Amino acid sequence: MHARSLYRQFGPTVGLWMMLAGSSIAGMAHAAPPMPFEDRYQHVGVATCAGSNCHGSQRPFDDSPVLQNEYFLWQRDDAHSNAYKLLLTADGKRIAANLGIEDAAAAPECLTCHTDYVPANLRGRRYSMAEGVGCEACHGGAQEWLGPHVSGNTHAQNLAQGLYPLEDPVARARLCLHCHMGTKDKPIDHRIMGAGHPPLEFELDTFTNIQPAHFRVDADYKQRKPAYAPGAKVWAIGQLVAAETFLDGLLGERFSDRGMFPELVFFDCNACHHAMRAPRWSAGTGGPLGPGEPRLADAYLVMTGIVLETLLPPVAARWNAALGELHRASMQSVAKTREAAKTLRDIATQALPQIAQLSLSKAQALDLIDRVAAAGLQGKAGDYTTAKQIYYASDALFYYLRQEHGVPATALQAPIDELFAAVDASQSYNPDALRAALRKLRAGAQSLR
Ligand code: HEC
Ligand code: HEC
Ligand code: HEC
Ligand code: HEC
Repeated sequence: MHARSLYRQFGPTVGLWMMLAGSSIAGMAHAAPPMPFEDRYQHVGVATCAGSNCHGSQRPFDDSPVLQNEYFLWQRDDAHSNAYKLLLTADGKRIAANLGIEDAAAAPECLTCHTDYVPANLRGRRYSMAEGVGCEACHGGAQEWLGPHVSGNTHAQNLAQGLYPLEDPVARARLCLHCHMGTKDKPIDHRIMGAGHPPLEFELDTFTNIQPAHFRVDADYKQRKPAYAPGAKVWAIGQLVAAETFLDGLLGERFSDRGMFPELVFFDCNACHHAMRAPRWSAGTGGPLGPGEPRLADAYLVMTGIVLETLLPPVAARWNAALGELHRASMQSVAKTREAAKTLRDIATQALPQIAQLSLSKAQALDLIDRVAAAGLQGKAGDYTTAKQIYYASDALFYYLRQEHGVPATALQAPIDELFAAVDASQSYNPDALRAALRKLRAGAQSLR
């Protein structure tokens, strides 16, 4: 039985999922803990964490396992502390007005991603929605662990009391994606995009690193948090979990059979929205769809295929065949699309725990770079979103090679900078520059073997 349904049945008194997660049996290691927003614990509010002897110091402590300036960093540098305020800006108001919403800052359909949105009975005395995406939106309600986490609790004990296991890349990806892709619990649709909301994108390793880090991965950290994984693995896991989350969307109510169009948020935005004049990067080629046929947004699915080709070859052929089938089915019916999505979802579910157990060799990381670059050069990836994922992947893998395998910092930096320049802004996205950079990247990766 799935651990989350166990949790729902028995409540929070026993850290049941912990007992499962604690075992190292493959496939059980990632039994899902409840998300912070589906907590049973009160969220005590950022103010409770912000004391200068707690997490609100201006400078990192020297003699503490954690930095203790987390609040300071979050408040000053982290976009999450600004998430609620976005709803009060001119852009926020315009999006709301276009949707006929009177006040975005009071609308659950916006608050769900722009604040630590928990039911009223779980908002503690110092909880404030104005804090945006606060500590407990990611770390879980602190009602039970607040006291004990500074008076001798082990990490495992904190987890059993409701701390969310963010160090585990599978659990982390599942949480971030609720807000950074949208799910049935935190829905976003083409209607909201049409009203002016920016399209969402995500890559776990990059987004973990560009969120100003308020944690330090050292020997002590790795010992306290054995689920920690290095970057390339975080990237691979992030792709599989994103693929799962996307497929769950296709399998759920949001992708419904209604009127002339299914929910368009599941499609590649650039299939429909692009300037008619500029020649674009192999739009409509690669895969079974022809020119002019709107394609599902397959960036995470293509990347997952590459992960599987490199790390679980026996599974990859099935995945890629099923992906082709998904594209064909999307031109037939919602029912056929769901059938194909189910096949992919099942493969991902089986593959994820296996990927999560691997450690990546230098040769595998170089293979991944080569395949990612080749996918771009062969035009498998016909859209801006995938181009962006190609950049994220190359950067994550290169960083991993430097950190874990002693590859010199200068080795691939130049082509990666060129990739970044090519994908930096969707308006000026330059497919030719991207291809030129990918050729250099491949040659560079080849020379590191
Ligand atoms: C599924 C989660 C989700 C929902 C629902 C959602 N947002 Fe957002 N919103 C985001 C994320 C994530 C970003 C940041 C995107 C980025 O920078 O990559 C964002 C960015 C924004 C921005 C900044 C725009 C810009 O160009 O910088 C505004 C304004 C905004 N949202 C308003 C709203 C309003 C109004 C609603 C309700 C109608 C809403 N959001 C619903 C997740 C969501
Ligand atoms: C958007 C999600 C997010 C928010 C918001 C957030 N954190 Fe974190 N935090 C993380 C992630 C990811 C990690 C790294 C994984 C881990 O060790 O748990 C982390 C790690 C930590 C750690 C552990 C460091 C260690 O060495 O074990 C502390 C302490 C912490 N955060 C405190 C805070 C505080 C205090 C706030 C609010 C001011 C906050 N966080 C807000 C995501 C978040
Ligand atoms: C409750 C919803 C929520 C959760 C959970 C969440 N985020 Fe966010 N995140 C947002 C919103 C909303 C924004 C936009 C804030 C802004 O631009 O001011 C954002 C912005 C960001 C940004 C800045 C993006 C940019 O374009 O500068 C990063 C990086 C980020 N999130 C990473 C993460 C990571 C990593 C996780 C998981 C550990 C995570 N987020 C979890 C809602 C969320
Ligand atoms: C299958 C075609 C199709 C796809 C895919 C699609 N849209 Fe649209 N979009 C439309 C149509 C049709 C309209 C309404 C007509 C109009 O306003 O131009 C529209 C309107 C819009 C608008 C308002 C008009 C404008 O151009 O400013 C925005 C913004 C928008 N879409 C964003 C997106 C985003 C972001 C995505 C990807 C998540 C997306 N669309 C995917 C067809 C599509």
